Amino acid sequence: MTQTTLGVEPLSGALGAVVTGIDLARIDDAAFGRVYEAFLEHQVLFFRDQTLTPEQYLAFARRFGALADYPFAKGLEGHPAITVIVKEPHQTSNFGGMWHTDTTYQPDPPKATMLYAVETPRAGGDTLFADMYRAYDTLSDGMRAMLAGLDGVSSSGLHASSLRADHLKSGSMQSEKAAPKVLEATHPAVRTHPETGRSALYVNPAHTARFAGMTRAESLPILEYLFAHAVQPELTCRFRWAPGSLAVWDNRCTQHCAINDYDGHRRVMQRITIQGDAPA
Ligand code: SIN
Repeated sequence: MTQTTLGVEPLSGALGAVVTGIDLARIDDAAFGRVYEAFLEHQVLFFRDQTLTPEQYLAFARRFGALADYPFAKGLEGHPAITVIVKEPHQTSNFGGMWHTDTTYQPDPPKATMLYAVETPRAGGDTLFADMYRAYDTLSDGMRAMLAGLDGVSSSGLHASSLRADHLKSGSMQSEKAAPKVLEATHPAVRTHPETGRSALYVNPAHTARFAGMTRAESLPILEYLFAHAVQPELTCRFRWAPGSLAVWDNRCTQHCAINDYDGHRRVMQRITIQGDAPA
C-alpha cells in the first residue's frame, strides 16, 4: 500500500478524522509526520482495515511517545503494554461506558490512547468522542473566568465498576493487578494543550469528583452543567468499528464513551496508552 495517497477525511463538524491510504504496519517517518499533524488538528484519528501483529501495533504506538501502564490491569501475556478489553455475550456492563478522559486520577495522565478492534458486534459497540476545546470555547466569559481559578480532583474510586468491571483480560486471564487502590490527582479545570497551546475543559463525569477546596455537594451543580455542556451532539463524533479498525485519541483535549448497546454479542479490543505530562 502506498503512503503517498494518504487522505484525511473529517468525521464531524467538531472533531475526528478518518485517515486513508496508509498501512500502519509499514508507516515511514514522512507519513507519520502527516499523521501526527492530523492528530493534533483533529484530536482523534481512525484507520480502517489494518492488520497488525502486537509488535507492529506497539511500534506504531511508540511513535507517539513512551508507552504507559494501565494501573488496574495486567497486559497481554508477553506484551504488557497492550491491555485487552472484552465484553462477552453474557455480560451486560461494558468497559468505558461513561463519558471520561483516560485516568485523570493519575498525576501524569496519558497523552494519548489507542484502540485496535479485534472482534466487533455486527451492529453496536460504537465509541463517541467529544471535543474539549470546543467545550471550553463555547462557555460564557463569566464561566471561563471562574474556571480559571479552579482545580478538579479526580478519583479512581468514583465510578470504578463502570470503568473496570470484569472486562480487562490478560493472556493469562488474571486481569487485576495485586492490591489495586484508589488513586487521586488534582488538575486544572482548564488545561493548556502543551503542543497546540489551546485551552481545553478538563473535567469528566467518570473521574472528576469535586473542585479542590470544595465539597462534592458544592461542586456538583457546576460540574454537572459542564459534563452536559461538553457532550452536546454538536461537540461530538461517533465511530463505527470493524475488525482491523484502529483509533488514536488525544486525551489532552477529548473525552470518549463506549456505547453499551450490544448485549448478547462479543467485542474484543486491544488498548495501548502513551505517557503524558502533568496537566497545566
Ligand atoms: C476506553 O474507554 O478506553 C474503551 C473505549 C471503547 O471500548 O470503545
